[in-house]
Amino acid sequence: MGKISLKTNVGKLSGVIQIPGDKSISHRSIMLGAIADGKTVVENFLLGEDCLRTIDCFKKMGVNITRNDEIVEIVGKGFEALKEPTDILDVGNSGTTSRLLIGLLSGIPIHSCMIGDDSIAKRPMKRVTEPLREMGAKIDGRQDAEFTPLAIRGGNLRAINYHSPVASAQVKSSILLAGINASGTTTVTEPHKSRDHTERMLKAFGCKVAEDGLTVGITGGQKLKGTNIFVPGDISSAAFFLVAGAIIPNSTIKMMNVGMNPTRTGIIDVLIQMGANLTIENERVINNEPIADLTICYSELHGTTIEGSMIPKLIDEIPIIALLATQAKGETVIKDASELKVKETNRIETVVKELSKLGAHITSTEDGMIITGEGTKLNGGNVDSYGDHRIGMMLAIAALLAEGEVTLNNSEAIAVSYPTFFNHLHSLI
Ligand code: S3P
Repeated sequence: MGKISLKTNVGKLSGVIQIPGDKSISHRSIMLGAIADGKTVVENFLLGEDCLRTIDCFKKMGVNITRNDEIVEIVGKGFEALKEPTDILDVGNSGTTSRLLIGLLSGIPIHSCMIGDDSIAKRPMKRVTEPLREMGAKIDGRQDAEFTPLAIRGGNLRAINYHSPVASAQVKSSILLAGINASGTTTVTEPHKSRDHTERMLKAFGCKVAEDGLTVGITGGQKLKGTNIFVPGDISSAAFFLVAGAIIPNSTIKMMNVGMNPTRTGIIDVLIQMGANLTIENERVINNEPIADLTICYSELHGTTIEGSMIPKLIDEIPIIALLATQAKGETVIKDASELKVKETNRIETVVKELSKLGAHITSTEDGMIITGEGTKLNGGNVDSYGDHRIGMMLAIAALLAEGEVTLNNSEAIAVSYPTFFNHLHSLI
């Protein structure tokens, strides 16, 4: 794909879309299925490049995984059956694969090497390698295991009580996955609650997980039992169409089977706070994960402030929230979000730079951004995803409101989390 011309200046969007499977849950279904005893069948698995990397890594460790479109079957034989990989584990662009896998590998007595793409090579790994070393894992890599490539030799772990300086589900999950094979009870305490899919899915696989406020604990030596998992639609993917429907006059978009885990629904809270016309229907729970159908209609919006414990609940949605704010009356302030600097790109920098090219009034701050929305018409321009899927999709939605041609560089990055994004978008026009 590379550089593409985006649809601009559309009248309205309307229709119904099936949101593809949740990225976080898809990764975890493969990881837990691979270390469980017995068969796990995963339905509605996300066929994004990141999740396919996770499958590939476990195949390299000898796990029997077969896939038929969005249905994946894993025949797990417990941790003991994971083989020392003869090939390097390549996580591509996937931060979740890298962080969670380092934790899982730390718990087993094998040696492995991990690499990723240019973006992964810049992302901080000490946030996991440091506590995992404290548990007894032997991990080495560039700058004392801050950056990939990494070499991991696991086994013989002891439990720790870890206080994480960041609210990160990847850090929490990495340590919990190591904790399954540590002697004693491992706990992780975070400054704010991050997404809890690992805890919910561990329970679905028959594991005991203790939760007390911001602390989660797991006792080592537990066995997981294979199970069937239905992956809800990814609310982080739905977010692009929620915002599109909210800002393009006369639009109505219905999204089916969207994951509504309360650690992920910050985008819903923000839309409501800003005055959006949103309906939530058919609420249900599958595999401990809440799901609903969402309908968004265009309405007038006003600015808001997003900060503190809200941030982990919408961290991946901040690029598209920035666009939402350009169409709201008044100022929107996003703060306490310095984690954005260590995502697939520095998302404070890339959001501000690219939306400014389209005429948005947006400035960066040390830990977020300020957007002034009043009557901001967007114009054409040549924008870039910089290889970041969420920046690419946000710009494709922004273009819908632009007068003048918009071209997007590095559009192929979108396949990382939403390979059918353009099919869905075009079906609504
Ligand atoms: C994820 C956690 C978040 C999120 C990422 C997926 C996960 O990262 O940004 O897209 O699946 O655990 P952090 O844990 O680094 O905040």
